[in-house]
Amino acid sequence: MKILVTGGAGYIGSHTVIELQQAGHQVVVVDNLYNASEKSIQRVTAITGQAVHFYQVDIRDREGLTRVMEEHQFDCCIHFAGLKAVGESVAKPLEYYDNNIAGTLVLLDVMRNHGCKNIIFSSSATVYGNPAVIPITEECPKGQCTNPYGQTKSMIEQIMMDMQKADPEWNVVLLRYFNPIGAHPSGTMGEDPNGIPNNLMPYITQVAIGKRPELGVFGDDYDTPDGTGVRDYIHVVDLAVGHVKALAAVEKGCGLAIYNLGTGKGYSVLDVAHAFEEASGVKIPYSIKPRRAGDIATCYSDPAKAERELGWKAQYGILEMCRDSWNWQKNNPNGYRD
Ligand code: NAD
Ligand code: WQD
Repeated sequence: MKILVTGGAGYIGSHTVIELQQAGHQVVVVDNLYNASEKSIQRVTAITGQAVHFYQVDIRDREGLTRVMEEHQFDCCIHFAGLKAVGESVAKPLEYYDNNIAGTLVLLDVMRNHGCKNIIFSSSATVYGNPAVIPITEECPKGQCTNPYGQTKSMIEQIMMDMQKADPEWNVVLLRYFNPIGAHPSGTMGEDPNGIPNNLMPYITQVAIGKRPELGVFGDDYDTPDGTGVRDYIHVVDLAVGHVKALAAVEKGCGLAIYNLGTGKGYSVLDVAHAFEEASGVKIPYSIKPRRAGDIATCYSDPAKAERELGWKAQYGILEMCRDSWNWQKNNPNGYRD
């Protein structure tokens, strides 16, 4: 199939481009490079041996997107482009609503105008809010998101559901990711956050490489086995493969379909720090800090629906996730900025 990948220079997008190319799909990437480097695209090519057709275009730029759609006849779009920093979204709600929601509206309209009505969307477990059931199935009601970022994911899901209901020619797959970590096993591609990392794994790898003195553990008084927050970490390559599997659902004419992409296993902050030490041989000093606003105690998936319907199941375990995150950080201390 010919696939438009928005946000394809970013962390999850670039790993997905590899899996798409290796599965025989043709890929065109649109990214404004706001939170990515074109080097990630070059490294995709180094791994797959295939060129990536890349356009530096903002998805809010209707004319730019139209030009891309006029040059290519796409079978499906995988839509990663968006801003994703929870804390920043609280400080800059208008920027987040504009980029994520207005951008998606332009994308959907231009797709429709060019006869492409198949889309796979990067949603998030954040739409469940503080989940009503654990492990979380897709039937779990959506919850109250505590930040504008989460609201954009929930609203975009709603927009796509309404659109599909009004025009059943659309096939819409909403993929709710749990906590993506890890990096390509080659050690040449991975997550490259700007400034101080917000998320646990990039913070740990920066402590390991000596950029930060210690990990701050945000709360040890949650109702969890060791008191620290429990999450469902998933290797980014497993996540990428999930998108390739979702394409098959689109091809079959799935209408609207929603899948959790997680491993179904929950690990605490201290479990992850200890697994990282085991995988890397590097000690991670830490101290307990106050809880972080908006955090919940426990969040992990029931991924059975994706296995049943897509034939997808995560293959990598926590030690491999830590090994690959470390391999990437160690080989690229400054990410793509060297
Ligand atoms: P990322 O920031 O690495 O990738 C997003 C990409 O989109 C970047 O390359 C950025 O430059 C591009 N982009 C942003 N706004 C754009 C615009 N207006 N036009 C064109 N390109 C634009 O983030 P990621 O971790 O790879 O996340 C990809 C998607 O998955 C995002 O939608 C994110 O919200 C979602 N998601 C991520 C996580 C996570 O923990 N990483 C979890 C759940 C969902
Ligand atoms: C994991 C655990 C923290 C950093 C976020 C978004 C979510 C989704 C994935 C996009 C928590 C603890 C963290 C640190 C810590 N993104 N922690 N010290 O919060 O589960 O999910 O990323 O959709 O929407 O909210 O991930 O990696 O930030 O935190 O103790 O320095 O690690 O409190 O328990 P989170 P995270």
